[in-house]
Amino acid sequence: MTEAAARNRSADASKKANLDWAHLSFGYTKTDCNIRYTFRDGRWDKGVLSADETLPIHIAATCLHYGQECFEGLKAFETKAGDVVVFRVEENARRMARSARKILMEPPPEELFIEAVERVVDANRRFVPPHGTGAALYIRPLLIGTGAEVGVKPASEYMLLIFVTPVGPYFKTGFKPVDLIVEEQVDRTAPLGVGDVKVGGNYAASLRAGMAAKKKGFADCIYLDAKHKRYIDESGPANFFAITQDDRYVTPESHTILPSITNMSLIELAREMGLNPERRPVEIDEIFSFKEVGCCGTAAVITPVGSITWRDRKQVYCPDGVAGPRCTALYERLREIQTGDLPDEHGWLRRIPPR
Ligand code: PLP
Ligand code: COI
Repeated sequence: MTEAAARNRSADASKKANLDWAHLSFGYTKTDCNIRYTFRDGRWDKGVLSADETLPIHIAATCLHYGQECFEGLKAFETKAGDVVVFRVEENARRMARSARKILMEPPPEELFIEAVERVVDANRRFVPPHGTGAALYIRPLLIGTGAEVGVKPASEYMLLIFVTPVGPYFKTGFKPVDLIVEEQVDRTAPLGVGDVKVGGNYAASLRAGMAAKKKGFADCIYLDAKHKRYIDESGPANFFAITQDDRYVTPESHTILPSITNMSLIELAREMGLNPERRPVEIDEIFSFKEVGCCGTAAVITPVGSITWRDRKQVYCPDGVAGPRCTALYERLREIQTGDLPDEHGWLRRIPPR
């Protein structure tokens, strides 16, 4: 499909796609198109919408051999008034540039990243879940080294690709407490490595631990810092936070976790809600004194943690299977801001103009 056809198709399709919006999982659903920009001969092209779900790629591309790739994740929502908005896209643009620079890839300029998000979301408007369904349009930007190299060195050509897909909750329980286990046998990242950026290798490194946790009946695991094995880093796809007995929002300070945009937002909301947020190293044995625990991220939103198992001990936070009041209040406030039900006082939403 050509770009014009892709746009026309979604313009025609003023009606929403025929999906069971309230029961979507966090998985891939085909949409009308994705968008691709190429960096070649020292400059980015104008980008093109494509209906093709596959990529022709050089067999010696650096993303395939040497892991030169990074990605992002953000969400679009429909407001009650029917507008489509994306949450804090500028922060994702900046984080992708940081990830790119850290593994010597060409960082897409912030304006180009935002334009790409606007174009691909606009072209897939009918896949933005209706307001009130609890679902969202997940936006997955991907930057890959496409230039051919055989020696270990950075590529000279790159592709920025963005696909979108409507999703429900990351953890299938939705806003229900999940059980986590502390992982001590696998390090997700190295102390001076790339744990603070969103590169695919970090996720490959986490697969063994994540799958082992799931096999034991846990939703995922919590990683400790690789150097001391004493401080909490984060969980597989999300940052960690806790509420102390005296109602403070505490979240780990660490060079080996991904700086979560959701967490950054929750810290601001926590401050407004009188939860005196603290970002500091969090020792693992503090899990026995926390009142509430949660994970946060674009996909996970806020996922309340019902229990943490560490060695032979299990600390339970939600004995009756219901999230605590602070996690619930933070979740509701964040969701209401994201879907435009509360005024956007922080300037976190960007309306996608129809093109
Ligand atoms: N930590 C990891 C490892 C993640 O993959 C994610 C998801 O993006 C997060 C934290 C949460 O970050 P954000 O809130 O920006 O989605
Ligand atoms: C996100 O929350 O956007 C993520 O990237 C987490 C996970 C799906 C990898």
